[in-house]
Amino acid sequence: MKKGFFITLEGPDGSGKSTQIEYLRRFFEENEIECVFTREPGGTHIGEELRKIILDKSNSEMCDMAEALLYAASRAQHVEELIKPALMEGKVVVCDRFIDSSIAYQGYGRNLGDSVRVINEYAVAGCMPDVTFLMELPPAVGKSRISEDSQDRLEMEKIEFHNRVYEGYLNIANHYADRFVCVDASRDKEVIRQDLIGTVAEALANRGIM
Ligand code: TMP
Repeated sequence: MKKGFFITLEGPDGSGKSTQIEYLRRFFEENEIECVFTREPGGTHIGEELRKIILDKSNSEMCDMAEALLYAASRAQHVEELIKPALMEGKVVVCDRFIDSSIAYQGYGRNLGDSVRVINEYAVAGCMPDVTFLMELPPAVGKSRISEDSQDRLEMEKIEFHNRVYEGYLNIANHYADRFVCVDASRDKEVIRQDLIGTVAEALANRGIM
């Protein structure tokens, strides 16, 4: 049985996840709570190697199912090598993207449907987040925040793709309402910070972690 607490952040590209993750990092440091910060795809040596392959713009021939399976492979390694052991030791884990990214981007964005959820439930073997923050921001706004030169293979997809991803996110959040906390990401980053930290502090207090 896991003893720690598992937090994930989700949302469209450019929705401000990284800024909020940095705020969370400071919050945990200030409160002397042991916390592991990680990301997907990536988080382990194998995961980071897979990340390079998945996001490389020159891999334009990658088929959608290969893409979905590579994300799931990175996730399986991540759960087994890093996330599950940290949670078993009672640590808090904060992960930048997790299973819901695959359901939104590959399931909805690439139109692979429910098979993506099935593959990924197999990959995570029951290790699901306690809380998932969804940064709600229209994809066009998020996309406009990322310069064209720095876009990866997924970010450079057409706006129609990102709109399907976003619609997917809203459906997933609705379906798993007990786990999701929707955050209006169009607000000032300081206001969003207070929202997030408030929710995290309350959840950790309920678990007896703070
Ligand atoms: P990042 O830019 O947030 O690090 O994520 C890399 C890209 O990969 C981003 O465009 C979202 C995408 N992605 C998926 O398509 N499926 C997934 O399962 C994950 C974790 C990310």
